[in-house]
Amino acid sequence: MSGGRRGSLVDNRTGQQEDTMKKQWWQNKTAYQIYPKSFYDSNGDGIGDLPGIIEKLDYLKYLGVDILWLSPIYQSPLADQGYDISDYYQIDPRFGTMEDMDRLIKEAKSRGMYILMDLVVNHCSDEHEWFKKAMADPEGEYGNFFYLADQKDGRPCNWRSYFGGSVWEPLPGTDKQYLHMFHKKQPDLNWENPRVRREIYKNINWWLEKGLAGFRIDAIINIKKALPMQDYPADRADGLCAPDVMLSHAEGIGEFLKEMRDETFRKYDAFTVGEVFNEKPGELEQFIGDDGYFSSMFDFNEHLIGQDPRGSYAAKAVTAEQYKEACFGAQEKIGDMGFYSTLIENHDEPRGVSHFLPKGQVCEAGKKMLAGLYFMLRGLPFIYQGQEIGMENVEFSSIDQVDDISTRAEYQTALDAGLSPEEALAAVGESSRDNARTPMQWDDTLHAGFTAGQPWLKENPNYVDINVKDQMGRPDSVLEFYRSLIRLRKDERYQDTVVYGSLQPYLREQKNLMAYFRKGETQTLLVIGNFQKDAQEVRLPGAVKHVLINNLESWKEEGSTVQMCGWQFVVLEME
Ligand code: NOJ
Repeated sequence: MSGGRRGSLVDNRTGQQEDTMKKQWWQNKTAYQIYPKSFYDSNGDGIGDLPGIIEKLDYLKYLGVDILWLSPIYQSPLADQGYDISDYYQIDPRFGTMEDMDRLIKEAKSRGMYILMDLVVNHCSDEHEWFKKAMADPEGEYGNFFYLADQKDGRPCNWRSYFGGSVWEPLPGTDKQYLHMFHKKQPDLNWENPRVRREIYKNINWWLEKGLAGFRIDAIINIKKALPMQDYPADRADGLCAPDVMLSHAEGIGEFLKEMRDETFRKYDAFTVGEVFNEKPGELEQFIGDDGYFSSMFDFNEHLIGQDPRGSYAAKAVTAEQYKEACFGAQEKIGDMGFYSTLIENHDEPRGVSHFLPKGQVCEAGKKMLAGLYFMLRGLPFIYQGQEIGMENVEFSSIDQVDDISTRAEYQTALDAGLSPEEALAAVGESSRDNARTPMQWDDTLHAGFTAGQPWLKENPNYVDINVKDQMGRPDSVLEFYRSLIRLRKDERYQDTVVYGSLQPYLREQKNLMAYFRKGETQTLLVIGNFQKDAQEVRLPGAVKHVLINNLESWKEEGSTVQMCGWQFVVLEME
């Protein structure tokens, strides 16, 4: 586990740099992801927008978060909700204007907050001018911006795209085909071409000059392909193989990532968090160590639990023991070499409370327990919009209610595997990305107070019970519980331990119990979550000085044990 080396800068006596993780400006912060399309609609067109975000900055300040990551708001056909960019220098008019963006950066700054944008540079949109130029003249300069191949030679490889089907698609109007790791409207950019890389760095610096604090970096592991392209053993009846097989053969991504860091982020002391799933064993330090390519990357270990190579229809429910081991495994891996960014959900995942708590047992106490357990891990906690009020998965009664291209592809995979339409919908509905994309639930008025028009995606009907208005100021609400976790992270008396302290599991073998120490130089905190609906007895390792956080009112300490109620979560300061 993170072995107790504390982050410190320079030894005052010797002037020598100590062999410890460097402290960085962002490490004691709390981050919040905004999915702009579903956050707050200021003009009644059913789509959330930048002025809407500005209106809600005071709410975010009240919550206590510091770093705001915006999913893409660049000009885009929105085939993959903005992860298909047609102009990296423009704001999509549906989200607002460049003036709105500048105002957002300024308004955030005046509240002591930082804005991150999403950096989507593995691919662009097929409506980007580079791609249009490549179509017009595949042999010309822009043809080399993409991966093109002659159609007459057949597909260069049997890789499957993340959204199903081959990665190869005919290049309209030509005798060529192009590669897309994601949707066919997201052609991959050819990072082997230095001109492409230069264009990307120019754009990153342009945004950083505007005052952005950094970026969340999308799908970045895909920029390096295993070349020359070749087939790998097929893993489904379609004769294709999963993209991660190719990634495991791709060598040399570090050269690109190092170059990007040095040409851009490093010059601005920007914070970057990578969406990285497939780093190779031993590569973590190169990615996020002191001299890493990124400041941080997401800990997705918990999100991989129960996945099945056949498709999301075959995924299994997560158990408390699996969750605990995934968290501890990740902490062991990272130690104090760097800082993961921790999360229970984002715009690509189902709602964390619906996914990680047992079906039929989702309740406010359980939501708070889950919040506390991941929040107190060593790392930078990210909250996804709506998570702070305990938003839950939505029920789909027909595939027509699903907007997301990935869920639709998974639905087809389930049908192909022989599931009935009802079974397929029920199965893929559980993990659908649309669960997280329903409108933010602000109050109990029509459309959850998200829009005065028709929302682009139907709201979850439970907004009448679960909404910000109800929870703000209600002392026992999920929202106020998140605020108390953030307050503890900011509390000068505890911050050093909460942010930098080492992490050691406690009673790891005790079933449905997740407990760990956070140890600072002079302080020990004990975090305990009873991950089940029934009470259980927990042995205490010593005397309790203070109960710093408790998601329930009761505290039943009896000698050297405590009776933890179902879903109870506490943070204790030990003597
Ligand atoms: C990861 C993003 O988070 C997801 O929403 C998107 O579909 C893919 N990358 C492709 O950009």
